[in-house]
Amino acid sequence: MTDPKELIEKAERFIKQQQDLYGKFSVPIPDAVEPEVSQEKKSEINTKSTGPQSSNIQHTKAEDQETVQTETEKPLSTQEKIVACQTLDELRRLCEQDPDLQTDLEDTNLVFGVGNPDADLMIVGEAPGYNEDQQGEPFVGEAGQLLDKIMGAINFNRNDIYIANILKHRPPNNRDPKPEEREKSLPYLLRQIELVDPKIILCVGRISATTLLDEDTSLSKLRGSFHTFHGRELMATYHPAALLRNPKWKRPTWEDVQKLRKRYDELGGR
Ligand code: URA
Ligand code: URA
Repeated sequence: MTDPKELIEKAERFIKQQQDLYGKFSVPIPDAVEPEVSQEKKSEINTKSTGPQSSNIQHTKAEDQETVQTETEKPLSTQEKIVACQTLDELRRLCEQDPDLQTDLEDTNLVFGVGNPDADLMIVGEAPGYNEDQQGEPFVGEAGQLLDKIMGAINFNRNDIYIANILKHRPPNNRDPKPEEREKSLPYLLRQIELVDPKIILCVGRISATTLLDEDTSLSKLRGSFHTFHGRELMATYHPAALLRNPKWKRPTWEDVQKLRKRYDELGGR
C-alpha cells in the first residue's frame, strides 16, 4: 500500500506544478452542512454504528461508502413523502404542511376527509364549500344533507363510508377547481384511496368523475355503469347540489345508487 505521507507529498507537488503553470488558485472546501436524513435512515445509521459490526473497528470500504451515500441523500420529494405515509393521520399532517393544496382563497381550513378509515365504499366529491371550510369536514352543508339522505336510502350511514373531495381547500365563490389545483391535489387523494382501500368508489358530480377517470366528458356519459380505477370499481352519479337545482336527475341517481348497493353486497362489502 502507498505510504499516506508519500501520497500527500505527491499531491502537494502536483498542486505546486499546477500553480506554477496557471497561477495561484484555491480549492473550495464544501460547507460542513448536515444533510437532511429521514428518521428511518437515522435509525438505520444508528443501528449501524451501535450494531455488532461497529465493535469490529475495521469497517469495510463498502460499509463506509454506504454511510456516506446515506448522509448525502437528497430530501424527499412531495411524491415520496406522500407515498411514505402509512396512515390517514400521517397523510392529513402532510396536507396541513403543503401550501400548494390551497386555492387563491386565503385562510381556508383543510378539509381532509371523514368517515370510516376501513370503509369499503368511498365517496369523492368536488371541493369544500363555505360550511365545509368552516367545519373542516366534507359534505356538511345542504348538499351534504341530501347526500346523507341518498346514502340512507340504500342503508348506509356516515359511519359505514369514507368521504373526501378532489380539492382539500375551498375555491373562491365555489368556482370549479382549476386543472392545476386538481393536479396538485390528486396525488394526496390517490394515497388516501389506497390507505382507505375501498372496494368501490362513488364519484359525485362531473368534476370528481372526470378527474379520477381522466376523461373529459359529460357526467351523463360516465354515470350508470362501473369503471375500473386502479384495480377498484368506480361509479359516477350526479352531485347532490346538482339534484337540488335539477330534480329531474333524482331518478337516475336513485337507479345508480341501487346498482351501487347491489354491487357492494356482491363484492362482500361490510
Ligand atoms: N360539495 C362537494 O363537492 N364537496 C363538499 O364537501 C361539499 C359540497
Ligand atoms: N354537472 C355536474 O357538474 N354535476 C352533475 O352532477 C351534473 C351535471
